[in-house]
Order: sequence, then structure tokens, then C-alpha cells
Amino acid sequence: MQLTVLAISLVLMGAIAAAFLAAVRASGSGEASGGVESRRSMLILAMIVVGVVVTVISLRPWPHAAQGGEPAGPVINVTGGQWFWEIDTENVPQGVPVTFFAHTSDVTHGFGVTDDQGRLLFQVQVMPGYVNRVAWTFDAPGTYHVICLEYCGIAHHDMITEFTVGGEA
Ligand code: CUA
Repeated sequence: MQLTVLAISLVLMGAIAAAFLAAVRASGSGEASGGVESRRSMLILAMIVVGVVVTVISLRPWPHAAQGGEPAGPVINVTGGQWFWEIDTENVPQGVPVTFFAHTSDVTHGFGVTDDQGRLLFQVQVMPGYVNRVAWTFDAPGTYHVICLEYCGIAHHDMITEFTVGGEA
């Protein structure tokens, strides 16, 4: 499914890029204003290159590739509910891919994990009737925080817990 979406996105992006290039060519074929036109073309080309590089770099660490098949490492079960998180371990191993299996006991929640600076590392939707999964490798030991990223009622903001990575069990 993700490959299909990726293929469709690439085809559509190619079509848009081709339309831009055609527009650039057409605008350049008129008067003898070569300097401005070629600078414009270079600018568009540079923007495309920067856009592709930034997109690839920013999407690479996402855990999408690890979603399918059997989990590669330990499995951790997560339950979200109004308004709590339950995690079946307090100590998550460091340096190996762990897979969170997340489900809800009531409404939709958003299982989001941040580091101790509050930076979001990953998140997965937690939906009634589904067990959603997300894999992550924690490179650094420490305390990580769980927050809710889907509005789920009056105490949504209070759906916070934490777990430790790499400590003594
Ligand atoms: Cu659970 Cu917001």
C-alpha cells in the first residue's frame, strides 16, 4: 500500500515538474531576455534539488520500513484510555528495534513518544478495533515521555506517562 502511494506521489510530482519545465521553456522562447530566464531556470532547478534533498533527509529516519511482517525485536504492548497510558514494561531495551503494539480501551488516541527535551520521536494512531504498531530503536538511554496526540476529551492534555530506556531492570 505504501509503495503504491509512493509510486502515485512520484508520478504526480514528475507531472508537476514536467509542467513547470514546459512553462519555463515556453517563457524562455519568446524575447531575447536570456539572462533573467536562465537565472529563473537555475533558481527553479536549485529549489527542486533542495526540496528533494530535504525531503529525503527528513523522511529517512521514519520507522515506516519496519512496519510489516514479524517484529524484529521485543514487543511492547500499549493501552490508551481516558485518560491514561498503560505500558506493559517500565524498562525498554536500548539499541534494538522495539515494536509497540498500541490499542485503545475507548476512543481514538495518539500514542506519541518524546525524548527528555520534549522532541517528538514517533507517533502512531490508537484506534478502536485496531492494534496499531510502530517500531523504534532507542539509541540513547534515559527517560522518555508518552503524550497523547489526538484530542480525546476533557483530560486529553493529562494523558502523560513515561518509561526508561537502557536502565537497570
Ligand atoms: Cu488521549 Cu488525547
